Amino acid sequence: MSILIKNIKQLIQVHENSILIVKGEDMKTLPVIENAYLYIQDDTIVEYGTMDFCEGMDAETVIDATGKIVLPSWCDSHTHIVYAGNRVSEFVDRINGLSYAEIANRGGGILNSAKQLQNTSEDDLYNQSIKRLDEMIAMGTGAVEIKTGYGLTIDAELKMLKVIKRIKQDSLAKIAPTLLAAHAIPSEYRKDKSAYIDKIINELIPKASALRVAKYIDVFCEKGYFSVEDTEKILKAGKKYNLIPKIHVNQFNILGGVKLGVDHNALSVDHLEELNEDDIEALRDSDTMPVALPGCSYFLEIPYTPARQIIDAGLPLAIATDYNPGSTPSGNMNFIVSSACIKLKMTPEEAINAATINGAYAMGFSNMYGSITRGKKANIIITKPMDSYAEIPYAFGHNPINTVIINGQVWT
Ligand code: NIG
Ligand code: FE
Repeated sequence: MSILIKNIKQLIQVHENSILIVKGEDMKTLPVIENAYLYIQDDTIVEYGTMDFCEGMDAETVIDATGKIVLPSWCDSHTHIVYAGNRVSEFVDRINGLSYAEIANRGGGILNSAKQLQNTSEDDLYNQSIKRLDEMIAMGTGAVEIKTGYGLTIDAELKMLKVIKRIKQDSLAKIAPTLLAAHAIPSEYRKDKSAYIDKIINELIPKASALRVAKYIDVFCEKGYFSVEDTEKILKAGKKYNLIPKIHVNQFNILGGVKLGVDHNALSVDHLEELNEDDIEALRDSDTMPVALPGCSYFLEIPYTPARQIIDAGLPLAIATDYNPGSTPSGNMNFIVSSACIKLKMTPEEAINAATINGAYAMGFSNMYGSITRGKKANIIITKPMDSYAEIPYAFGHNPINTVIINGQVWT
């Protein structure tokens, strides 16, 4: 199967050599070919260039992209899309004055989602979750990280992993699976958190590893959830099974999780709504990607991650949705790119770099995703007609997309 996209107004994020990450000043640049073509064979980007070199070229499917922008699909490196039901009633409770913490303290929040998930069959959970993923694909996302963490019992966490495994097998999207058993303390362990941690370490991680799904391990390192010491114990246990850390840190409080993550070679440290100079210093010269989740800040009305401080210090930054039922019930990366510009004061170039190549890095596969490069996977967005790619973040809340190609197939 071959696809030729012709007359592209701007082909953006084009890299001749397979780049893996973009940092600091370099994030301000987005390589563009004006008046371009792109040729896809099966699931792979094979060739591209200016239209002058397209003469005589043909393919089984030819798409005329006159007036349109073409870019690599969004790489969403932080989601919790496997969940059951929703938390709409908590949303209304918050409007009426309760805080996220108050709701969690009375057994709502993550524990509410865990109860719903425990009472949902694997098939039902799969159907609810893949529907969310399909909606994300239609909005231009081609690669997605998916976490467990709404099970909170051995069986329910394994059920989540089985669902993620099925999604990975069935979907055209590229999936990065993460074990997040340490997402909250189950009520039956409220008075004995260390017993839950022991259960994760001695029973869940070995059983999860036998399923051969999870590649990453996550911990919610936060006051009232898991301390830096707890987090370290769990990361060390994960390491024995080759699980690479990707952790929730600094959402509400700075505990020292950023440095811990870097010390344990975390692939990413995510949230960072709170951030200090020590965190910046810890990240400098590390291989750990900081990840901002502006949808969470928007929905919970908490501070936005100080992206300027991070990028201006010469560091890289990725942006992701955090799609989950409690703090971010949206998987729309177009909105995240807008929020990055409007609220995090990132330029359109920085936001698009953060949502493509750096997002792919934060999932460990920027060698195959996140840029228009020969040999990379054909995950492509074709926009509606627009003057420049800056219209993607500018027209916030609008759908900028006309056509999505995922794994070399036109998505309908
Ligand atoms: O990333 N912070 C921890 N986990 C999720 C929210 C979980 C929930 O409220 O269900 C997050 O924001
Ligand atoms: Fe999250």
